[in-house]
Amino acid sequence: MSARVLTIEDLDLKGKTVFVRVDINTPIDDSGKLMELSRIEEASITLRDLKESKVVVASHQGRVGRPDYISMEQHAEALNKILGGNVKFVDDICGPTARNEISSLKVGEILLLDNLRFMAEENVEFTPEEASKTIFVQRLYKYFDACVLDAFPTAHRAHPSIIGFSYLLPTCGGRLVVKELKALSRILQVAKAPYTAVLGGAKISDRLEAIEALIKNRRADKVLLCGLIANVFLKATGKINYPLGIKDEEKYITKAVSLMEEYPGVFELPIDVAIDRDGERVEVEVDKLKGESILDIGFKTIDKYSRIIRGSGTVFMSGPAGKFEKAGFNKGTEALLKSMASSLATTIVSGGHLNASLQQLGIKDWIDHVSTAGGALVLYLAGKRLPMIEALERAAERFSNKS
Ligand code: 3PG
Repeated sequence: MSARVLTIEDLDLKGKTVFVRVDINTPIDDSGKLMELSRIEEASITLRDLKESKVVVASHQGRVGRPDYISMEQHAEALNKILGGNVKFVDDICGPTARNEISSLKVGEILLLDNLRFMAEENVEFTPEEASKTIFVQRLYKYFDACVLDAFPTAHRAHPSIIGFSYLLPTCGGRLVVKELKALSRILQVAKAPYTAVLGGAKISDRLEAIEALIKNRRADKVLLCGLIANVFLKATGKINYPLGIKDEEKYITKAVSLMEEYPGVFELPIDVAIDRDGERVEVEVDKLKGESILDIGFKTIDKYSRIIRGSGTVFMSGPAGKFEKAGFNKGTEALLKSMASSLATTIVSGGHLNASLQQLGIKDWIDHVSTAGGALVLYLAGKRLPMIEALERAAERFSNKS
């Protein structure tokens, strides 16, 4: 592990009240139910190892204004089942109800706070010192003896729960963070050129930032685009010429044009795609589209991308190739994952959706590293300093052997 990070064993947490920041942000279905539990299962490993402490656990869920911006009640139920019945939920974060519950916690009990992003402060980026002065951190830090950071998928966000408590309290990394850092440092030692990044998913502004960072840091000789981000680049090249119906479309297209000009020969775009016609998957050449929603990459594109994957030294895939949860439109995602699994390249797969697909296909063990993180992992691979890792390094300097 290249970063110097304390672990649970480095702090004396027995009998103490511990704040644990996890990331159990989970995709939800149309009826508002959690679609899968992989991040909740991962988070339970650290919580299990804190059974001699009083544990206050917290996470964000979704983004403000989106359908996945919901309370943590279902997460608490799932966690309670996994951990065998000692998890309580409070529909508050740092108000009197939450503080009473924290004060009355007993050793072995776990209290899950509500969605941290219900507080405005948790949607804003701060410096560590500013974060330590937010209302949230100021109201709660006196109740805690220590902080455990285990939210690797949120490591790129400078939010109060990530960098505020760790500025004030003895802080260590949880099991997931330590596992990710160890695995990534091992993998990056053997990674070799040519590097290929396969990027899909729906978070366009994060993707654009990541693409530039990956190329600049020589982690992407080729970028194979799919998902919504591919549509932005297709529009930027003039291959599709109808509105995509996404917020800030013009701004993203301008950025895509400038990236393609600055890095010629790096980007590969779909040549054909799949659309839904009367409930059936239909393959269409990109230049024949007439405004239909693109739901997956097409078979010719799968073939072209798979050949590039097979010729790569290192392949990193983040985000599904299309609307993989819709029947018939998971073919691109699955085919690219299979090409990675059967290639001789060093392979890294990131994000909950791809993790679930690998499990369904039974090929997870064929990938060198599978991470629950999405955007945070891309930025880590691109060599960016992540606020949560910096917080852990600072805490290691300040609190070694001092708890
Ligand atoms: C993720 O799923 O990538 C993390 O939970 C971070 O979510 P965010 O991009 O909404 O900050």
